[in-house]
Amino acid sequence: MENLVCIITGANSLTGIGRAAVYAFAKKNARAIYATDIYDEHLASLAEDIYKSTGVECIPKRMDASSDDDIQDVIAEAITKFGRLDVFFANAGIAGPHPMKTETKDEFLKMMCSVPINSVYAAIKYASEAMEKTSEEKPQSSGSIIATASGLLAFDLVLVPCHILHRKQRNVINLCQSAAWRLRGKNIRVNAICPGLIETEMTKKALSLIQGNEFMEHAMKTNSALQRFGCPAEVAAMAAFLAGPESSFITGQDIKVDGGMTASLPYTPLFADN
Ligand SMILES: NC(=O)c1ccc[n+]([C@@H]2O[C@H](COP(=O)([O-])OP(=O)(O)OC[C@H]3O[C@@H](n4cnc5c(N)ncnc54)[C@H](O)[C@@H]3O)[C@@H](O)[C@H]2O)c1
Repeated sequence: MENLVCIITGANSLTGIGRAAVYAFAKKNARAIYATDIYDEHLASLAEDIYKSTGVECIPKRMDASSDDDIQDVIAEAITKFGRLDVFFANAGIAGPHPMKTETKDEFLKMMCSVPINSVYAAIKYASEAMEKTSEEKPQSSGSIIATASGLLAFDLVLVPCHILHRKQRNVINLCQSAAWRLRGKNIRVNAICPGLIETEMTKKALSLIQGNEFMEHAMKTNSALQRFGCPAEVAAMAAFLAGPESSFITGQDIKVDGGMTASLPYTPLFADN
């Protein structure tokens, strides 16, 4: 990934996919990485550690991934400073509380869907414009936009009504596929990653909802072919692959990193064990 200038959203969480992606991109020797998040208490130390351990320039930025203005500001800074933008990993997201604890389904739906969908839409719109820009350093349009969608199985009894998860996830995938096609001929690739259950801050919160329910706890752990949760680095490795030149012929895809969770369909161990 030498020469590539990258932006990653949702990088503040200490155990999150975004932070792991900053390390994965740095390991591949990216030119510069903007590590961004709506919260920024861990971003400066992340940037320092990246520079110390890899020599890669990492720039911490507070940025609301669902705000057009914030996204445009960070992209403009990358263009001014480096003359190019090559990779945008739209990864920020929220799990939210259980829908039964929110005022209305609409409120929940808005919260669950607006961050991921607005942020992926804005990332595609503004990042692709920047990726098309050419300069002495970058003579041709090129780039890779990656979005984190949801896993493709919705645990309707566990976390949220499955139609909400599916709507969010399908919207992100559809946006990526449409964008890949709309950007045809520009050498800008757009792909979605669909993680299974990954151990991060987000799942810690979500799993606390089923604490004490032995059946559900067991089912969640064993509901993938690999019989375990994934780690953030395993998703980050896919993001780094999609960001770099090794994936140069891959666009418009939704790629599962789920330990075989979706391979269980139509067989569902969640219920078959009981
Ligand atoms: N962990 C899983 O099992 C799993 C499964 C499927 C999809 N995902 C998706 O992966 C992505 C990363 O999640 P994670 O598991 O690393 O969670 P995480 O909670 O560890 O990290 C998410 C990060 O996004 C940030 N964020 C939230 N709203 C933001 C906003 N408006 N602007 C900027 N940053 C914002 C948070 O501050 C946090 O640092 C999310 O989009 C999530 O929906 C995760």
